[in-house]
Amino acid sequence: MEFTNSWGNQFRAESYSMLEFPNTYYLAYRDLPEIISKHVKGKKAIDFGCGTGRSTRFLKQFGFEVIGIDIAQDMLDIAKKLDINGDYQLVINGKYSHLGVEQFDLIQSIFTFDNIPGWENRTQILVSLHDLMKPTGRMICLDSTPELYTNEWASFTTKDFPENWHAKTEDLVRDIMLDVEDRRPVEDIFWTESDYHKLFDLAGLEIEETYKPLGRDNEPYTWISEKEIAPWIIFVIKKKNI
Ligand SMILES: C[S@@+](CC[C@H](N)C(=O)[O-])C[C@H]1O[C@@H](n2cnc3c(N)ncnc32)[C@H](O)[C@@H]1O
Repeated sequence: MEFTNSWGNQFRAESYSMLEFPNTYYLAYRDLPEIISKHVKGKKAIDFGCGTGRSTRFLKQFGFEVIGIDIAQDMLDIAKKLDINGDYQLVINGKYSHLGVEQFDLIQSIFTFDNIPGWENRTQILVSLHDLMKPTGRMICLDSTPELYTNEWASFTTKDFPENWHAKTEDLVRDIMLDVEDRRPVEDIFWTESDYHKLFDLAGLEIEETYKPLGRDNEPYTWISEKEIAPWIIFVIKKKNI
């Protein structure tokens, strides 16, 4: 099935730029400062799939010097408006060597692989990101869990898409985002956790740690599935020891 990047149009880009860290998204970002400070040494970072810059601005708060890269000009245009001194660059898929070989302490990828089709394509992208990373560098890759597409959440509904229950790695899955004005279904690429493991291995990477944040009772959100089922998975990845 043909997959087009859902984020490559102006209305969706503007709608997305309004989103900060509401509801289920809060859980994606809540534990990142601690995870980053535990695993990452140094302050030079790439934000891969920076979109409208939410994840890039987030990293800058912690003193990182960040280049945000994306393949969607509409998203980058908004990122630049929201952070006029920021460094946001349009890239060609899988071609990043002009940014500097083995220069970066952190490659951050938040909700980007959810939108990237194909084993070969993903592997090639990961190999190129691997080459950007210093030997001591880390990649933090945050994406949706398979369970995101079959449960109800503070920020998403999936009940209109029963076909999600039968999804296999590489299949298209759908949900509707409840925190933004744009209620057209968002299409993602389904990927199991074990297939993420295979992918990292193919790209010469290995997992240092995996996190699956859950909602807590004392948080100011109306959690639906979030206290029992993790919507997000966070992989901390390093170069394989050869
Ligand atoms: C859901 S948005 C996430 C944006 C941001 N990381 C955040 O957390 O707010 C996903 C972004 O990944 C970008 N993207 C998708 N495929 C990509 C690729 N192959 N290379 C770089 N960026 C890509 C999309 O254009 C979109 O801006």
